[in-house]
Amino acid sequence: MIEGDFKELNARSVKGIVNKGGTILKSARSKAFRTKKGRKEAYKQLKASHIDAFIVIGGDGSFTGAEIFNQEFSFPVMGIPGTIDNDIFGTSHTLGYDTALNTVVEVIDKIRDTASSHNRLFFVEVMGRDVGHIALNAGVGAGAEEILIPEEDMGLDRLVQSLKRSKLSGKTSSIVVVAEGDETGENVFELKSYVEANMEEYDVRVSVLGHMQRGGSPSCFDRVLASRMGVKAVESLLEGKSNYMVGLVNDKINITPLNEAIKGKQTINKELIRVSDIMST
Ligand code: F6P
Repeated sequence: MIEGDFKELNARSVKGIVNKGGTILKSARSKAFRTKKGRKEAYKQLKASHIDAFIVIGGDGSFTGAEIFNQEFSFPVMGIPGTIDNDIFGTSHTLGYDTALNTVVEVIDKIRDTASSHNRLFFVEVMGRDVGHIALNAGVGAGAEEILIPEEDMGLDRLVQSLKRSKLSGKTSSIVVVAEGDETGENVFELKSYVEANMEEYDVRVSVLGHMQRGGSPSCFDRVLASRMGVKAVESLLEGKSNYMVGLVNDKINITPLNEAIKGKQTINKELIRVSDIMST
């Protein structure tokens, strides 16, 4: 926007991309947009190109930028939540989250082959800078023995006690899923050292899944969700609405004021913690 690098798109422009990961738009965080000068320049460029509104796909940071822009220039904006972390208030699912979950489950299934064949304990680190949605859901989906998330401080001693109990109950291997921002404050390699020092009976390994979670062909759920959200965002703007985020609530597409989406917090599903505890005993 700041550079006025616009290209007119029509329905044919998105031909053949429904099954692709990544973005053809190549838009990303902009330092200049954080400054008044940068936003003013963007506004000038939008006006010069007769653009009436914009839809921002992203998370908190992108929405904050859109909201400020709207306030400064009364320019219509809409938000679509796109992040694998699923940490946006006003939607049960963000775009990319379901695809990331499926990737993580598929990879843990493969890791489990080594874990069970060689009686090993694996720490698998998944993304989720400040939130445990991926860890918790993929952990339950992949049958992890323990799940460490930023929202709950399990503590290292409890982790070791729990793994010891699993071992005594006859388990010969274990998978521990760790969200990268886990509350124990230890990184995954420190966790490995701690458990190795306290459980000599286990051969411990670490797998950090990293950016493989952010790529790949989108799941059917994400494709359908993206289509529904896109339609709703455009239709809302055409109805004269502005400053909202499109979201999925109780399987219905609706809109939430952008400032509520920014300020609100998408809380972890506590029921899943209980389910995980029961399933892994
Ligand atoms: O914001 C989503 C997220 O996937 C986080 O879970 C992760 O910490 C981060 O992005 C990685 O970002 P980057 O690609 O900038 O390292």
